Amino acid sequence: MSIIPPNSADRRDVLFHLHSQTNPRLHARRGPLVMTRGEGIHVFDSQGKRYLEAMAGLWCTSLGFSEARLKRAAAEAYDRLGFYHTFSHKTPAVTIDLAEKLVALSPIPEAQAYFATSGSEATETMVKMAWIYHAARGETRRRKIIARDRGFHGSTIVAASMCGLPRMHREFGLPLPGFLHTLCPDPYRGPLPGEDMPRFVARLAAALEAMILEEGPDTIAAFIAEPINAAGGVIVPPEGYFPAIEAVLRRHGILVLADEVVCGFGRTGNMWGSQTVGMTPDMMAMAKGISSSYFPISAVLLGRPIQEAMAEMNKDGEIFGHGFTNSGHPVGAAIALETLRIYEEMDVVPHVRAMGERLRAGLRSIAGRSRIVGDVRGAGLMFAVELVADPATRAGFEPVGRIGARFDAEALNNGLIIRPMGDAIALCPPLIIDAGGVDELLERFDLSLRKVEAEAALETTAG
Ligand SMILES: Cc1ncc(COP(=O)(O)O)c(C=O)c1O
Repeated sequence: MSIIPPNSADRRDVLFHLHSQTNPRLHARRGPLVMTRGEGIHVFDSQGKRYLEAMAGLWCTSLGFSEARLKRAAAEAYDRLGFYHTFSHKTPAVTIDLAEKLVALSPIPEAQAYFATSGSEATETMVKMAWIYHAARGETRRRKIIARDRGFHGSTIVAASMCGLPRMHREFGLPLPGFLHTLCPDPYRGPLPGEDMPRFVARLAAALEAMILEEGPDTIAAFIAEPINAAGGVIVPPEGYFPAIEAVLRRHGILVLADEVVCGFGRTGNMWGSQTVGMTPDMMAMAKGISSSYFPISAVLLGRPIQEAMAEMNKDGEIFGHGFTNSGHPVGAAIALETLRIYEEMDVVPHVRAMGERLRAGLRSIAGRSRIVGDVRGAGLMFAVELVADPATRAGFEPVGRIGARFDAEALNNGLIIRPMGDAIALCPPLIIDAGGVDELLERFDLSLRKVEAEAALETTAG
């Protein structure tokens, strides 16, 4: 039975609005949580309740929810030019400025920037560019893409095929043929009994190589990875993982694609997640933090060999047959440029490191007092706290996801927005968070955990 009042905004939402990543029947019963206003790291719902948004929305509003400079940058950009595109040699002026700025920040030498509007478009664009790269070199059979279990790369058909999460495939008959998945480098759950990290890494590299050899190295175009898996559970790979993996890939002529959609722009305590984990990509996709999600804009940075392949492929005067109407939109470009200026002025990387250390220390101290925290992991300002029935054996709660959902509800009660990923609780607050904000987050987290833990203890006793 629905508890939603008739003729309310909630009822209209249920009637007229299909939500992303939401169960339709549950939504029809519960209705939406309607957000109406933001202030720094907080948001307010339609009842006026204030929440600390410890997920920065969807890992995205690095500058919080009310940055006046971004509002001004948007207004000024709209005053100048409400729209222009980048087809047929044309471009808004500000888009050139943004491309130059991104190239200056790029760890890929002599890069160029290509613009799109979502993370999914950016990751798919990298796939098409990888296909061009090999085709231009006469290797037209190289079409397959290797992604990883528990990776997330977006919702369009190719991006979803690259995801390593069953929920992205189940309803749609995905992945498409030719989209493969290798093991996830999860240091908490991945190692076999008695296996140390160097041996675990060696096994992951060997499994990747075995897959490549079985498929045929000359059929594989690229490998894609998030430096740190976000939606898959905030998985920080063990030391030496990416160097070991990349050695295998390079040996077989396979391109390395970094999905920096979450990890880019300071999130992991370096400008790029690739730098945090020792990844050296040929291309990288970025979105979210590029504009603090104040505008749908994304980008791909591509290295010189890819650019040359594209020129070679079209050497007889054909055009590069790819592009989105809103690629390089002047308002998005102006907002992104201003976002990057603010990152520079706030010296975002040291700030993230300092706040990240404060958050990590606080979470560890909470974990030390808890009997259901199995793991606290993360880098920069991106963490997961995994709740387990028995930290000693790492045995999880049954069924998976129930305690995570319970924590989510209790956190909401306490004015804290987190994201449960199974029973791992993700935290990814706006990068502007200060010491007071971190302490407030920790307090609300602790309160929620104590309640959920007490209930779990009661259940165990009763059971
Ligand atoms: C790592 C990663 N890649 C790609 C995407 C897809 O981005 P979008 O939803 O903008 O298409 C996401 C979205 O959360 C993401 O986390």
